[in-house]
Amino acid sequence: MGNINRSTKSFSDNGGWAPESHAWDRAVAQVERYLRTPSKLGDQWELTDGDAPSGHQRWLVWGVFRHWLRFNDLLNRRLRRPPRPRIQALMLVALAELEIADAAREAQVIHFAVEKAKRLSAAEGRLVNAVLRGILRDPPPREDLAWRTSHPDWLVERWGKFFDEASLAALMEWNQRPAEHFLHWLDRGEPADPAGLEATEWAGFYRITESGWDAAMAAVQSGRACIQDPATRHPVALAGIQPEESVIDLCAAPGGKTLCQVWALQGRGELLAVDLPGKRLDRLRSNLRAVRAHFSQLALVVCGVDILDPVDSESLSRSHFDAKPGADARLFDVVVLDAPCSNTGVIRRKPDVRVRLEPVDFERLPDLQLALLLRGADCLRPGGRLVYSTCSIDTEENRGVVDAFLRERSDFKLKAERLSFPWREGHDGGAAFLLTHKYLTS
Ligand SMILES: C[S@@+](CC[C@H](N)C(=O)[O-])C[C@H]1O[C@@H](n2cnc3c(N)ncnc32)[C@H](O)[C@@H]1O
Repeated sequence: MGNINRSTKSFSDNGGWAPESHAWDRAVAQVERYLRTPSKLGDQWELTDGDAPSGHQRWLVWGVFRHWLRFNDLLNRRLRRPPRPRIQALMLVALAELEIADAAREAQVIHFAVEKAKRLSAAEGRLVNAVLRGILRDPPPREDLAWRTSHPDWLVERWGKFFDEASLAALMEWNQRPAEHFLHWLDRGEPADPAGLEATEWAGFYRITESGWDAAMAAVQSGRACIQDPATRHPVALAGIQPEESVIDLCAAPGGKTLCQVWALQGRGELLAVDLPGKRLDRLRSNLRAVRAHFSQLALVVCGVDILDPVDSESLSRSHFDAKPGADARLFDVVVLDAPCSNTGVIRRKPDVRVRLEPVDFERLPDLQLALLLRGADCLRPGGRLVYSTCSIDTEENRGVVDAFLRERSDFKLKAERLSFPWREGHDGGAAFLLTHKYLTS
């Protein structure tokens, strides 16, 4: 049935098909939960009852979301009325398994799904059987790339205004590929144990192969590395952070870029990492534990603040540190703002993004991003450096926000920008802009 690359990792590609009942049940429960109460897939993993999700469970759930629109379209065309969420979820998981099944295995997968449905009711067993067999038997209702790659038509239409046809096709194919994982080595030299880690064209980034996870996790636990896509190198590189500088990292959680800033400071200077109070802030704290141990002298403060809340703006100052006296004692040399965004540059990593996005997000988000950026500018000392970044490939959230900012703050100028497009760079998409205060640079 599949139209995805058959090199896609399959946890069932082990000769014969071995149904992993527990992984199926948990994948179905997770998809059902999403159907009842949609929430980010990243947050959903944290809800999986107690023990960590197995590789097969993850693979099934990611498969469901990667093909969400096509799978649901295929199902809805065959259903006179919506089934209960448990059955819808079961069929979605079966379709994810069928996506890489050969003809011999297809019957086994359907049998397996039908047996599961029969435990709920005989009628639902018959329904699952008829729907899944019908989908396999009949030609697909659409053949266009947007449908085959499960992208909403409105999003493809939108991208069509900015990207040429070949780029757009490459982007949609890219989004369907399972994401690669990279270790970002932040210390000098290279990992002591590089087993299973492949050097890449991006200095300091190693591709983690299947046998590389032990080495990668050991490096992360030492505080000298993090798991990060090469696209993330741009914001911190543009910031040009030097030891002894004062830096405020607004929107810091879960802390990938904060870690890079600690290393750029070489543990000397001041770093205030800020995000909204809540679970992500807890993750930020825990992700910084190892690097704190590495740089014991580091002046690093984590602060839970809504940076748009004027009442709390006191928290966004250097008063957390034993600041040296001076005119700009409350302001920072460098401000990094890695803004919340549509995530359109990381859809292969977060396949549910395209399911949750709505056209109105491209109006709402730039307003929020501009407000955050203006707030960030207020934390900067005269002559300082302000970096704005997103993991969006959409111009409204990138250059559009920067241009709007420059219209309001003519005392800043755009010094450099880095745009990453996945089909061109071979890594995640995103953008980073260096804005300098004209005080010293004009
Ligand atoms: C793209 S993520 C940051 C990723 C992070 N820089 C990293 O490298 O791991 C955006 C962050 O902005 C935070 N955020 C959104 N609105 C905020 C606000 N008003 N005040 C503080 N943080 C906010 C979100 O909680 C989220 O963690």
